[in-house]
Amino acid sequence: MPWTVAGGFSGNTQGAHLALQALGVGAGDTLLIHGAAGGLGTSAIQIALAWGAKKVIGTASEANHDYIRGLGAIPVRYGEGLIDRVREAAPEGVDAALDAAGPEALRASLALVRDRNRIRTMVSSALAEELGIPPLQGTRTAERLAELVKLHTQGKLDIHLRRVLPLREAAEAHRELEHGHGRGKLVLAVH
Ligand SMILES: NC(=O)c1ccc[n+]([C@@H]2O[C@H](COP(=O)([O-])OP(=O)(O)OC[C@H]3O[C@@H](n4cnc5c(N)ncnc54)[C@H](OP(=O)(O)O)[C@@H]3O)[C@@H](O)[C@H]2O)c1
Repeated sequence: MPWTVAGGFSGNTQGAHLALQALGVGAGDTLLIHGAAGGLGTSAIQIALAWGAKKVIGTASEANHDYIRGLGAIPVRYGEGLIDRVREAAPEGVDAALDAAGPEALRASLALVRDRNRIRTMVSSALAEELGIPPLQGTRTAERLAELVKLHTQGKLDIHLRRVLPLREAAEAHRELEHGHGRGKLVLAVH
């Protein structure tokens, strides 16, 4: 694994792993991921499919739809009408949802998933508490990372490097992340 990939690999893949584990994602599930093109969503799609999910639906702007298809998920545009578009993509119903986007995504998840124990948010923890959605629990561990590296070695999990910037451009990296759009992971390289 190149250093740039190693640098971007651990945080998002472990975050996605612990959230999907808490959701109990497995064989036969239809999973909805909000913010699917981001660093976290990119990992979550691949891990869910590796664990046997039947269908993964990922929300993103249209610019990222081909990217999401390439990861093996069904892209759906976020914004007004989201709930109807997800129902159309998953007429069988959505079993579980992971929110890596924000409050609207969490509220939509509540409308789409019958069991609120199968909803988690990476973003809106206060709203989750208000809505009776369990908090995200679990920690990053060496064992979790080892399992993820094994999936990477098997060709089932990779990260997408959006940009690799030198450390002196850390401020530019923050500015790029702050606009909240784009795909994959931004990495700082220390030379
Ligand atoms: N609690 C934790 O342990 C933990 C761990 C990791 C991450 N997080 C949080 O999880 C969030 C995602 O992290 P990340 O690293 O994946 O961020 P990121 O790489 O910056 O992802 C941003 C993504 O969000 C999408 N997006 C923006 N607005 C959206 C909306 N309304 N609905 C659906 N998607 C939308 C964008 O897609 P388009 O470009 O297509 O608009 C973009 O792909 C961040 O808020 C981060 O702080 C929390």
